[in-house]
Amino acid sequence: MSVYGKVRKITTHVLKEMKHSGEKIAMLTAYDYSSAKIIDAAGIDVILVGDSAANVMAGYDSTLPITLDEMIYHAKSVVRAVDRALVVTDMPFGTYQGNSTLALASAIRIMKETGSHAVKMEGGAEIKESIIRILSAGIPVMGHLGLMPQSIHKYGTYVVRAKGKEEAEKLVSDAKILEEAGCFAIVLEKIPAILAKEIAQAVKIPVIGIGAGNGVDGQVLVLHDMLGITQEFSPRFLRRYHNLYKEIFGAVENYIKDIRTQDFPNEKEQY
Ligand code: KIV
Repeated sequence: MSVYGKVRKITTHVLKEMKHSGEKIAMLTAYDYSSAKIIDAAGIDVILVGDSAANVMAGYDSTLPITLDEMIYHAKSVVRAVDRALVVTDMPFGTYQGNSTLALASAIRIMKETGSHAVKMEGGAEIKESIIRILSAGIPVMGHLGLMPQSIHKYGTYVVRAKGKEEAEKLVSDAKILEEAGCFAIVLEKIPAILAKEIAQAVKIPVIGIGAGNGVDGQVLVLHDMLGITQEFSPRFLRRYHNLYKEIFGAVENYIKDIRTQDFPNEKEQY
């Protein structure tokens, strides 16, 4: 086990030390008590209560509809399960963009009502004022650049971002703005690996990638995707570690069969 595997509680400070010592950070999403308990016990460093809950938990086709109350419900369930990991909760669409007073109020609700350790927000220069206001209240902020799913209607597509010079330059500048503002880490989603590596080298804070290659300081995936519960979503960056859809499907088929054949419950399974 690495030095950091033995750390009793992951803090934003530990994550910065991990970057500087070259130890890669492992991050996954979770939205409920039971799965958060498993991934925390398995040694995950950061648990993101992502607004991807809108997709994988609620079945929406974007992250936009999920509400602050719904995110708070998911985050509370996760926090109750976690002993070691740093829990970061996404600020949902519409709770921080363009209004730093609203942003601070939303972040305070997340911290106060859920016990999360930090919040995550999508955007660069445009949301700098909100980030600074939240940080001034002592709330750690993780940034999120590159493909930002809350802006899907602006992009019109989920393709790789920042392939062109202009967007790449803005991304580098936004990453520096987030660092200067005081963010403790940045997620980079679906951008060229070479650009992600350049950004990870240009800033001192940890850069966590999803579809951003291995030149960054850590990786994040959506739990339901890496476990193979979701089947329809298959981007190139996704490594599936299991086919849980198949496992659950088979178990349910067997359960139905056992009921139909009156094999379940048997004598030992009754009172
Ligand atoms: O909501 C989410 O799951 C995320 C990850 C994809 C980084 O933001």
